[in-house]
Amino acid sequence: MKKDVIVIGGGAAGLMCAIEAGKRGRSVLVIERAEQLGKKILISGGGRCNFTNVNATPENFLSANPHFCKSALSCYTPAHFIALVEKHRIAYHEKKLGQLFCDGSARQIVAMLKRERDAARVEIRLNCRVNEIGDSTKATGRDACATRFFLRTNQGDFKCESLVIATGGLSIPKMGATEFGYRVARQFGLKLVATRPGLVPFTLKPAFDEISGVSVEAVTSSNGASFRENILLTHRGLSGPAILQVSNYCGDGESVHINLLPDKSARKILKAKQGRALELSNVLSQHLPRRFAQAWCARVAPSRPMRSYSAEELDGIAARLHDWEVIPNGTEGYAKAEVTLGGVDTGELSSRTMEARNVLGLFFIGEVVDVTGWLGGYNFQWAWASGFAAGQAA
Ligand code: FDA
Repeated sequence: MKKDVIVIGGGAAGLMCAIEAGKRGRSVLVIERAEQLGKKILISGGGRCNFTNVNATPENFLSANPHFCKSALSCYTPAHFIALVEKHRIAYHEKKLGQLFCDGSARQIVAMLKRERDAARVEIRLNCRVNEIGDSTKATGRDACATRFFLRTNQGDFKCESLVIATGGLSIPKMGATEFGYRVARQFGLKLVATRPGLVPFTLKPAFDEISGVSVEAVTSSNGASFRENILLTHRGLSGPAILQVSNYCGDGESVHINLLPDKSARKILKAKQGRALELSNVLSQHLPRRFAQAWCARVAPSRPMRSYSAEELDGIAARLHDWEVIPNGTEGYAKAEVTLGGVDTGELSSRTMEARNVLGLFFIGEVVDVTGWLGGYNFQWAWASGFAAGQAA
């Protein structure tokens, strides 16, 4: 079977690209390995899909080339996706920090994409495995591009002019994440930026087992990036939005700095109780969750009556409350990571169309590319925007 465009991967980026290419009158086939489309959309945002962030700017994305995402993000903005959501009468709300969620269910976003796909006459093959991709022409000119790629799958052979790789990253392998996209990039000689889990909880040894489930509002920082949100103590280490955000910036063996009292002066709090019989952990319990204060003292500053500390000791404790340095012993890995950092090197792609510079007709979009967003709807915005960009050109 011959198509103008074949998109491999029926997730957020692949569906957006297929719909846009279909709207241009291209014949489009989406090949999806799973038994249904958009599985990650369905589980996203706790089942309500944080589908975009109204504050999305290129500064919210990580990439070896921070300028690469600018063109696609400016051509397809959060307002464009919101207009689509409103056209389909899906109710939504801003939860916090510009994060937009469905009032109902993430299923509404998948249903919306399916309606758009039907209107654009995009064909879908589910449970379809690509065993081999061939390049029939080895040509470099546009004219020689017709039926350039051929695919052998468990559902037959296909040919296409444009091949779009939208197979996502490595996070959540139990949902079927694979290295497929990176293998295709290597096959066609494209460079890759090393991958690692992103938006991922840290493991600590020893963990805060005794207080797992407790959360504290804090500012986390690493390598120049800072985030103010909750941190969550878990039986394996640290999680919560402020930790997931900073995990994108913290490499192996590097430290995270946590300000536990961002709006207060720890020095003033401690000095006010200097000389009293009250225990340090009780003083801190007035400003932090009690169980957290006790566990933090046990680990960082053993609790004694306030009158037993010297002025220098109290200064040292105050400094650590504002800059608690934690060196994670690792992360919970791809099994718990929301995204994959790294991927197809953006230097290999056109930032306007996502087409490979040296392999005409081959496109990479979404998470498989070395562009990763913050937590809070940014990663879907990248999927929509990069899918839209490729959909205009494929
Ligand atoms: P995505 O992974 O969505 O799709 C890839 C598709 O390709 C899948 O359908 C897969 O089955 C298919 N595929 C893979 N290999 C294939 C092959 N060989 N052949 C054919 N098909 C193949 N982001 C956000 O902005 N807001 C949110 O609320 C959340 N929430 C969230 C929760 C959880 C638990 C996770 C793990 C992630 C999120 N994210 C998120 C991140 C977001 O889900 C992610 O960035 C996008 O889904 C990426 O879209 P892609 O289309 O690139 O990949």
